[in-house]
Amino acid sequence: MSAALAAPSVSAAPAPAPTATATPAVTIAAAPASLGAAPEQVAPTSRIAGFYRLSVDERRANLASLLSVEARAVLARAGLPVEVADRMSENVVGCHGLPLSLALNFLVNGRETLVPMAIEEPSVVAAASRAALLARAGGGFRGEADPPIMTAQVQLDDVADPVGAAARVEAARAEILALGDRAIPSMVARGGGCRDVETRVIDADSGLVVVHIHVDVREAMGANVVDAVAEATAPLLAGLADGEIGLRILTNLPLRRLARASVEIPVAALGGPAVAAGVVRASRFAEADPMRAVTHNKGIMNGVDAAAVALGQDWRALEAGAHAYAARDGVYRPLATWRVAESAGGALLCGRIEMPLAVGTVGGATQVHPGVRLAFEIMRWPRAGELAVVMAAAGLASNLAALQALAGEGIQRGHMRLHRRRCEPGDETSGGGDGRR
Ligand code: MEV
Repeated sequence: MSAALAAPSVSAAPAPAPTATATPAVTIAAAPASLGAAPEQVAPTSRIAGFYRLSVDERRANLASLLSVEARAVLARAGLPVEVADRMSENVVGCHGLPLSLALNFLVNGRETLVPMAIEEPSVVAAASRAALLARAGGGFRGEADPPIMTAQVQLDDVADPVGAAARVEAARAEILALGDRAIPSMVARGGGCRDVETRVIDADSGLVVVHIHVDVREAMGANVVDAVAEATAPLLAGLADGEIGLRILTNLPLRRLARASVEIPVAALGGPAVAAGVVRASRFAEADPMRAVTHNKGIMNGVDAAAVALGQDWRALEAGAHAYAARDGVYRPLATWRVAESAGGALLCGRIEMPLAVGTVGGATQVHPGVRLAFEIMRWPRAGELAVVMAAAGLASNLAALQALAGEGIQRGHMRLHRRRCEPGDETSGGGDGRR
């Protein structure tokens, strides 16, 4: 387990907690490249009282002050125009719908954040919102993302002298990086480009050598950029290694592009030491047993994937990377862990998550899908690194909500409440909930 996943220590007293009813005024920054000009002064907090009790129209009206006229129209239209769908994929015959919801209460690095989620599973949005509300009692989530480095892999076979090949590749480093940069001029113009070369001897006996080229992809997810670098540099690399070119493609395990989020919640705000102890016991179970860790991580991916789908991210790549990272030292482990730590202000439940999160704010669906652009507008156009941290926080919140329920009344009661609500929409007792009591 990496140091980052080790039991967290308490560094300082938590930031002052916003009171449960506070709705701080925030001015929304001007939205670059938005669907339209967003109003300047808007409702501003991710805490919206009684949101879950409102009708869809009332929720939209509540959101309207955040959005440009164009974004409001997209919201009202509720769906992807089939002409756009036809440009996005092949053999299109229609559009497939999912509910678009907002997870509330997220405060991430001090920023009020509504998290758009597209997901069919009941309770994910309510659970994440509830956990995010608890997190506010400790000042919300804090986090950081690594620089946006993606990695190309060039496979070289039948390399007779792998050690000599690695030395020759290393000696030609500057030439390789320059050649890679020439394949991605617009990325270089945006401040990105090839940064590092690394050679791995995978199997000396058969002569399988892989060269990695690490590329700064700025605001992009980066798959196309990295694939272009792999294809452009492969002939030079094969010549240097005296080997046969094999695959030239990115790895979906971007180990240099991790995101981290953490939270420190006063145990008193959580409902007392027994609740916190239950969450820690659940964490230890996942740390000790890969069979449990898989389900623990599935709960994390509930939040991550729901946001990824709403925001047009490649959730298959995120899934692949997350699970490979969970198993990076040969044993499948939880992506998030929980401990109780003492602080001057009392006991804190401390949670941390670390995972690769290759997300982009340009290219792909972010360019063409009006619903995705709407979701970005709701989030006030975060940078890729900020988005990664919010998604990590959404994963951590989903995990906390699941562990708290599992260690307490069990998951079924809450699930069934929401299921009833779906079947009996007028049933107010079912209270899906957005974290408000
Ligand atoms: C269900 O979608 C997710 C959970 O199974 C996660 C977990 O067990 O931690 C509840």
